[in-house]
Amino acid sequence: MWPFCRKGPSGFSSSSTAEEVTQGIDGTGLTAIITGASSGIGTETTRVLALRGVHVIMAVRNMAAGRDVKEAIVKEIPTAKVDAMELDLSSFSSIRKFASDFKSSNLPLNILINNAGVMATPFMLSKDNIELQFATNHLGHFLLTNLLLETMKKTSKQSEKEGRIVNVSSMAHRFPYSEGIRFDKINDKLGYSSIAAYGQSKLANVLHANELSRRLKEENVNITANSLHPGAILTNLFRFSGIIDGIYCIIFQKKKRGILSLLSYLLRQVLLMEFIFELCYSRLPITIY
Ligand SMILES: NC(=O)c1ccc[n+]([C@@H]2O[C@H](COP(=O)([O-])OP(=O)(O)OC[C@H]3O[C@@H](n4cnc5c(N)ncnc54)[C@H](OP(=O)(O)O)[C@@H]3O)[C@@H](O)[C@H]2O)c1
Repeated sequence: MWPFCRKGPSGFSSSSTAEEVTQGIDGTGLTAIITGASSGIGTETTRVLALRGVHVIMAVRNMAAGRDVKEAIVKEIPTAKVDAMELDLSSFSSIRKFASDFKSSNLPLNILINNAGVMATPFMLSKDNIELQFATNHLGHFLLTNLLLETMKKTSKQSEKEGRIVNVSSMAHRFPYSEGIRFDKINDKLGYSSIAAYGQSKLANVLHANELSRRLKEENVNITANSLHPGAILTNLFRFSGIIDGIYCIIFQKKKRGILSLLSYLLRQVLLMEFIFELCYSRLPITIY
C-alpha cells in the first residue's frame, strides 16, 4: 500500500480527480448501466462516464431524482448521452421489467456497474419478503446481471470489445456474521445485526463477482467481472448510521470530491479495459478482489 496521497506507478493518487484519471479516454460507442445513479458514487460515475462519451443508462428507483441528475449533467455536458430508467432492486418484478424494457430498446451493453446499495438499515423486508440489505445489495444485482448477461455477451461478440461487470462491494465484506453468510437465517429478525447484515451482503457481492468471473473464463466469454471497495466517501449511504455519519462528516466532508477520485480508478479500468493493481493508496484502500 502506498502512503496516503502519494502517487503510485500509474501517476495518480487518492487526491486525483475522476476527470484527471480519465483524461484523454474516449468512451464513445460504449453503453453502460449504472444502478443507484441518483446519488453519491453512482451520480459521479455517471457524470464522468458521460463526459468521456459513454452512453449511460441510470437505473434508479426514484425517477424524479434521476431526472434531476440527468438534467444537471446535460446542463454541464451538453453532449452527454444519459437516460434514466426505473429500477427497484428490492423487487424482483421491477428488476424483470427493467431488464425487459432495456432489451426492448435494442441497445448494446458493454458495462454493467452494480453500484446501488443500502447500509445498516433497521431490520426490514423487501417487496419479496427477503431481508432488505441482502435483497437490495446482492440478490437484486445477481438477478439483474443474469438477466442482462446474454445482451452483454452479444455486445462483446459483435463489438469485439471486452465487456465489464463491476460489483461495488465494500471493505465491510470482511465483517459479516461470524459464520459468514447466513444462508439459512437470512430473515432471522432476532439475531439481526444491521452492520453484519451489510457485511454479509457485501461479501455476497465479492463471491458473486468471483464465481461469475470464473464461469465467464470457462465459457471463453469476452467479459470480465470484478468487485471492489470504492473508498470512503461521504454520501447518503450513512443515513441509517448516526455516529458513523458524524465521524465521516468530520474526517471526509472536505474531501468528498477528492475521495470520489478513488472511483476514477474504476472508470479508468472500465474505459481502458485494463487492470490497475496499484489501487491501494487511500486511507481505506480501493481493492479489486
Ligand atoms: N460511500 C462509501 O464510503 C462507501 C464505502 C464502501 C462501499 N460503498 C458502496 O458504494 C455503493 C454506492 O453507495 P453511495 O455511497 O454512493 O451511497 P448513496 O449515495 O446512498 O447511493 C446509493 C444509491 O443506491 C440507490 N438504491 C438504494 N436502494 C435501492 C433500490 N432498492 N433500488 C434501486 N436503487 C437503490 C439509492 O437510491 P435512492 O437515492 O433512491 O435512495 C442511491 O442512488 C454502495 O453499494 C455502497 O455499499 C460506499
